[in-house]
Amino acid sequence: MSHLIPLSRLARLVDKPRSELQRMAQTGVLTTFDGFVELEEVLRHFPDVKLGDDAELRRVEEIKEQASSKAPPLDMPEPHVMYERLRVLGREYAAARGKLMHYERVLGWIGDKLAEAEEEGQTASGFADSFLQWLRTELETTPGDLARWEMVLARERIMRVMTAQVTLLPKGQTFEIVGNESLLEAGLRAGMPMPYGCSNGSCGDCKCRVISGDVVKVRPHDYMLTAADKQQGFTLTCSYTAIGDVSLEMADIGAADIPEQTIRARVRNIEPLGGRRIALHLMTSRAERMRYMAGQYLEISVGGQSRLVPAASCPCDERRIELHVLCEGDAGDDTMEGPLSALLPNAEVTIRGPFGTFVLDDASERPVVLVAEGGGFAQAKGILQHALSLEHAPSISLIRLGNEEGLYQENLLKSYANALDDFHYVALPAGTPIVELLDAVTAMAPGIASCDVYAIGDQNVIDAVKYRCLEAGLPEAQWKAQVIS
Ligand code: FES
Repeated sequence: MSHLIPLSRLARLVDKPRSELQRMAQTGVLTTFDGFVELEEVLRHFPDVKLGDDAELRRVEEIKEQASSKAPPLDMPEPHVMYERLRVLGREYAAARGKLMHYERVLGWIGDKLAEAEEEGQTASGFADSFLQWLRTELETTPGDLARWEMVLARERIMRVMTAQVTLLPKGQTFEIVGNESLLEAGLRAGMPMPYGCSNGSCGDCKCRVISGDVVKVRPHDYMLTAADKQQGFTLTCSYTAIGDVSLEMADIGAADIPEQTIRARVRNIEPLGGRRIALHLMTSRAERMRYMAGQYLEISVGGQSRLVPAASCPCDERRIELHVLCEGDAGDDTMEGPLSALLPNAEVTIRGPFGTFVLDDASERPVVLVAEGGGFAQAKGILQHALSLEHAPSISLIRLGNEEGLYQENLLKSYANALDDFHYVALPAGTPIVELLDAVTAMAPGIASCDVYAIGDQNVIDAVKYRCLEAGLPEAQWKAQVIS
C-alpha cells in the first residue's frame, strides 16, 4: 500500500523550500500525484538528507519569514483539534494493523494451498516447505532502509498532528495549516485569495464547501449554517480548521471582487527612503484587517489630506501594511512638506481601498520576472513578497532601475538574493542606459517566453521592456504593466 505525503509537509520533512520541490515536480524529476508524493519516491530522491537539522536552511527560513512574515513555528493545536487528528491517525493505525493480521492469515493460506498442491503431486516434493521458509525469511529480514522509512513516517505522523494541508479547488493551490489557525487565517498567511468579510463568524462571506476531508470548529460563530448547508458540506473558513488534509471548493477571487473598505491603523515606524520618499509601516487593530492584493493601491488619510499610494506589502503580512509615499515638496529639493511628512510613530491614520488590478497571477506556476523603475519598486516589493509566500514560482527575478532617490531598501533584497536560490536580483543605478535594463531582463530569464513579466515604471521604460519581451517570444497574456508618473 503506497503512502502519499503532500508537498508542503514533504518540504518540512526534508528541509527543502517547497518551491524547490515544485520545480522538481514541474521538470518531471519528482513524480507527484495531485500535489502528493509517494514515500518510496521521497526516499529515492532524498536518501542522504539530514532530517530536521540544517542550520543553513533555518537561516533561509528566517529570511523568508522576514520576507513574507509567515512560516509560523509548529505550535500545538487546541486539544480538541489534536484529539480529532489523533483519532484519525488511530483509525489509520487500526486499519494498518488489521491489514497486517490479514496478510498473516494469507500467508497461512498460501502454506495450506502449497501443501495441498504437493499432496496432489502438482509441485515437486519439499517445494512448499522451502518456499514458505524463503518467504518467512524475506518477511523477517529487516530491509536496509527500514530505519529511514520509520524515521520519515514517524516525523510525518507527528506533523500530521501539528499541521494539515488545504487544497483550494478548482485551481489546486495548496497551503498548510499550523497550530490553532483557522482555514482562513492559514490561507491569508499563505497569500491565498480567499473570500471573507468580518473574519469573526458573523457575516457568512467565507462560507465554502468541503470537498474532501473533515473540519472542526475552533472559533465560535454567530452566522448559522443551516441543516442543508451542513448536509452539503459547507463550512466557515474563519471559524473552522482542518482535522486532516482537506480540499475546499473556493470561488475565484480577483482584485476587482474585493469590496472597498475603510479601516484605521497606527504608524509603527517611518523609514526615510531617499529624497522625499518615505516608507510608512502601519499596523491595523486586531479587530480590523485590510483586504487587498499585493500590487494594489491604498488611500491614506491624515490631517484632512488623502493620498493614493502603492502598498509595498503583501496581505500575507497580516496586520502590517507598508506604504511608500512621496511627500510634498519642491522639485529638486528634498525638504518634505504636508501632513504625511509630519507623521509620528503611533499616530492614527485612516486607510481606504483597495484600488487597481495590477496584481500577481496567483494560480500561475511560471517563473516571475519583476521589472521596477524608480518608485515602481513599491508594487514590485509587494508582489515579490506575495510570490515568495505562495511558493508557486520556480524562480523570481527582480531587475530594478534606480532614480535620484537611489536603490533604497537594497540590503533586504541582497539578503534575499544571498539566502534564496530561486531569487535573483539585479540593481541598476540611476542613469543606466535603457538598453542595459533590457539586456538584464532577457539575460535574467533565458526563457523569457515561459515567464510571467510584471513591469512598473514610466511609460518609456514600460514600452521598451514590453517591446523587447514580446520580441523575445513572451506571449502577451504573460505581460502585465503598471505605468507610474
Ligand atoms: S468571514 Fe464573516 S463569517 Fe467568516
